[in-house]
Amino acid sequence: MIKVEDIHLGFGDNKVLKGVNLEVELGQTLVIMGQSGSGKSLTLKLIIGLIKPDSGKIWIDDEEITGYTEKQLGEIRQKFGMVFQSAALFDSLTVGENVGFGLKRHTDLSKKEIEKIVAEKLEMVSLPGVEDVMPIDLSGGMKKRVSLARAISMDPEIVLYDEPTTGLDPVTADEINRLIVKLHDQIKVTSLVVTHDMQSAFYVATHMAMLNDGKIVAKGTPDEFTKSSEPFVKKFLSQLDRLVQTTENRTAINGK
Ligand SMILES: Nc1ncnc2c1ncn2[C@@H]1O[C@H](COP(=O)(O)OP(=O)(O)O)[C@@H](O)[C@H]1O
Ligand SMILES: [Mg+2]
Repeated sequence: MIKVEDIHLGFGDNKVLKGVNLEVELGQTLVIMGQSGSGKSLTLKLIIGLIKPDSGKIWIDDEEITGYTEKQLGEIRQKFGMVFQSAALFDSLTVGENVGFGLKRHTDLSKKEIEKIVAEKLEMVSLPGVEDVMPIDLSGGMKKRVSLARAISMDPEIVLYDEPTTGLDPVTADEINRLIVKLHDQIKVTSLVVTHDMQSAFYVATHMAMLNDGKIVAKGTPDEFTKSSEPFVKKFLSQLDRLVQTTENRTAINGK
């Protein structure tokens, strides 16, 4: 569904991406891990065409988008739902208006039809009936959930998450992790998550990739990752030893 081939991107002397190769297949939840500043957010921006690489190619569903115009990219972007690091809600709009924003803008649906979809999506993130609340009156975790409801409002094929759990307390982070898995399982959405939160990564991933020094230095299933001999992966995963293990963890980290 997504293929990134030999992407290079730099800003002056700061070469951030130095030949990134990635593939995300239908139905996967691929988690890209990497240190702060390694280029994770840039990778997401490249995939939705917000920035162009210096060289390399990006395919979305067999369309190579690096040469696309803004208009063509607009169509491509409709395949994506995006959950930003800050929930990025419009503060002057109600929760319902936030979730229905794309539907109002990009479809001919009536007000009633939009309201129905908004209600469904809010239900999906376990926030039924909050349409009339203003974002300022929501907790951080609730904002993230509203942001998720908005991301899935147009039934995207792919949801991109940028640091979905960063800055949230552990209980709230866990709610978001559960939601990412729920959306993946229930609506079969292909997901791409970038994070430096190891616990979150192992909770949600079906596949993983490690970005270090401008390249993907390892990829595989979570199980393969825990057994990896790649030095940077081992170093990164040593963080895990310090983390509380959740009983619901879907991966092989339990018992390590
Ligand atoms: N618009 C920009 N102009 C200059 N440098 C940038 C720009 N966007 C990102 N960078 C640099 O690229 C690097 C990677 O950024 P980013 O993708 O945001 O990292 P992260 O992995 O933390 O998400 C950082 O060193 C950042 O300073
Ligand atoms: Mg980032």
